Amino acid sequence: MPALRRAEGFEQMPKVTFIKTDGTRVEIDAPTGLSVLEIAHRNNIDLEGACEGSLACSTCHVIVDPEWYEILPTAKEDEEDMLDLAFGLTHTSRLGCQIIVTEELDGLIVSLPAGTRNMMQDK
Ligand code: FES
Repeated sequence: MPALRRAEGFEQMPKVTFIKTDGTRVEIDAPTGLSVLEIAHRNNIDLEGACEGSLACSTCHVIVDPEWYEILPTAKEDEEDMLDLAFGLTHTSRLGCQIIVTEELDGLIVSLPAGTRNMMQDK
C-alpha cells in the first residue's frame, strides 16, 4: 500500500521478503543502508552470518528471486569466491551480508537455502 506508507512518512522504508525453508514468507520493513543479513538478524530470521559480514564465510547465503537477481549490483570477486563454498549454490545465489538495501530494492525477495553446510547430515 505505497500511498498509505507515503502519507504516513514511511516512504524511506523498503520491504524485503524472506522465504523460509518451510515456504513461509515474511515481509519486513528494511531500513536502507542495512544488509540483508542485518535485517534478518534484527527480525529473527534464521540466517547465520558467522563472520558478521566480513566475507570470511558463506553462512549468509541466500537465493535471490531471479527477477531481483538481475537488478542487484554484480557480486565482487571476493563474494564469488566465498559463494563457491556455499552449500546448495544456485544461479541466483548471493551472500546476504553483501546485499545492501536501497530504495531501488523495495520488494526484494530472497529465499533461505534448504540445505545446511553440514555434509554429514545431507538429506
Ligand atoms: Fe560471512 Fe556474509 S556473514 S560472508
